[in-house]
Amino acid sequence: MTPEKTNPLKFALTTPLYYVNGVPHIGSAYTTMIADVIARHKRLRGEKILLITGTDEHGQKIQRTAQEKGIPPQEHCDQMVASFESLWDKLDIQYDRFSRTTAPRHQAIVNEFWQRVEKNDDIYLAQQQGWYCVPCEEFKEKRELLENGCCPLHPNKKAEWRDEENYFFRLSKYQEKLEELYQKNPQFIEPESRRNEVINFVSQGLQDFSISRVNVEWGFPVPGNPKHTIYVWFDALLAYVTALLEPEQDPTLENALAHWWPINLHLIGKDILRFHAVYWPAMLMSAKLPLPQKIFGHGFLTKDGQKMGKSLGNTLDPFKLVDNYGADGLRYYFLKEIECGKDGDFNETRFVNILNADLANDLGNLLNRTLGMIQKYCQGSLSALTAADLPQGHTLKTIGLDLGERVIKTYETLKFNEGCEEILTLIRAGNKFIDEQAPWRLYKEGKQSEVERILYAVLESVRLAAYLLAPIIPNLSGKIYQQLGFSIDFNQGDRLAQIAPFNHHSQWGKITANQNLPKPQPIFAKLELPSEESS
Ligand code: MSP
Repeated sequence: MTPEKTNPLKFALTTPLYYVNGVPHIGSAYTTMIADVIARHKRLRGEKILLITGTDEHGQKIQRTAQEKGIPPQEHCDQMVASFESLWDKLDIQYDRFSRTTAPRHQAIVNEFWQRVEKNDDIYLAQQQGWYCVPCEEFKEKRELLENGCCPLHPNKKAEWRDEENYFFRLSKYQEKLEELYQKNPQFIEPESRRNEVINFVSQGLQDFSISRVNVEWGFPVPGNPKHTIYVWFDALLAYVTALLEPEQDPTLENALAHWWPINLHLIGKDILRFHAVYWPAMLMSAKLPLPQKIFGHGFLTKDGQKMGKSLGNTLDPFKLVDNYGADGLRYYFLKEIECGKDGDFNETRFVNILNADLANDLGNLLNRTLGMIQKYCQGSLSALTAADLPQGHTLKTIGLDLGERVIKTYETLKFNEGCEEILTLIRAGNKFIDEQAPWRLYKEGKQSEVERILYAVLESVRLAAYLLAPIIPNLSGKIYQQLGFSIDFNQGDRLAQIAPFNHHSQWGKITANQNLPKPQPIFAKLELPSEESS
């Protein structure tokens, strides 16, 4: 079975469905920002997008968290969900579906899927003995645990011994089919290092895994045996499918899979790779369903080299960061500074320095000083100039001519850091160009048309950069565009492809003669360095 050939103009992507054992931290925000950037880029290009995010609300971890708070689990989940939704709003995440595993219609999908797998003889009852890591919601091999009996991802939470009857999924049956899948579709798992990790894991031999629990009440009962609840991962992966239902549709697999399936991209962190790249395709093979197109596993955000996470208590509060620095600043830092796929350390001083250097100085100042000079030397308008008036080999035009093409490739391959660097090259060249050409001197010498040509080229560079950065910094790009006389708001979702079509705006030379250029306003105020490093 191979991933489906899909319609290139229709693209469904998912973030993981986040555990609601606590309010969201910056690690959860990271995946969601990446997903939103991909979705925005594709919407600009006219593709139909379905961005799915949501929450994973069942299982022992959540049950215990609610118990500790002394409130019913559903009430706890509802509180946490409100917090996730409010963060996504603050971060300008434009998601299409928010999938909750406690939604009643999700249960119908899970039941139907379970029965399909059961019919294929892939579910059986057996005794499960082993070490269970509750924060991971996963059984671990003894050899995977640290000396203190904890798993390396949660070094402060001891794995617990379990000896109980569970339902098992016959994963071992799918070993060869999975190996064939990875071989035939090298792009099924990316980046390559993750693919190798999975291939290596599978080559050691797959064991069946348990998909029910007997002492966890907080979950869906197993169809036909309500003494068991369905394992949280079996339930959660299927919430990607439930999310595909239209609001008014009956919750059947047939309805859910009719339009958007197969999903084109599951964006996940590297810790949940096995579930998505091994268990999930095997479950789908068992249910005889087409497979998703790609699983991309990004790296971890670390603090002092350790994974940031709720269990370790070393997280950063994304609400505070957005309040202090704004959504665009946060989005820019995480997309530009971290190579998607690798780990990246967060340091607030570096964060502030980068935003000041790139957004306030390089980009913001360039716009500001150029517009200022246009007011001063050209009465606020570049009369009759167009890109055609710039000579062949013009420094900025040369960079700008194929910049759009180069940047598209980086968005398509999730190399956002490289895309940002490409765009910054143009911005930095613009600053250098204006310093070297010194239009203030030419103005004094009465060389008006030369002055205008210089300012035109620089302004066009800022415009192109703003457009290409719009999926990452939609609000700043919108402010820049408005100051260039375009009334375009980059938060307009699907409409953008008509208002600011990619084929047109990603090309060099789109500022037209007599563009109405208002008085400049600073777009990004310089940030203060934090008084002490936040922990
Ligand atoms: N509930 C499961 C996912 C089920 S998907 C059907 C889960 N939830 S989680 O909340 O623990 O993690 C969700 C995602 O956040 C994972 O992709 C994980 O890698 C990511 N991150 C959690 N901490 C992170 C960092 N410190 N850095 C980057 N991403 C991290 O797993």
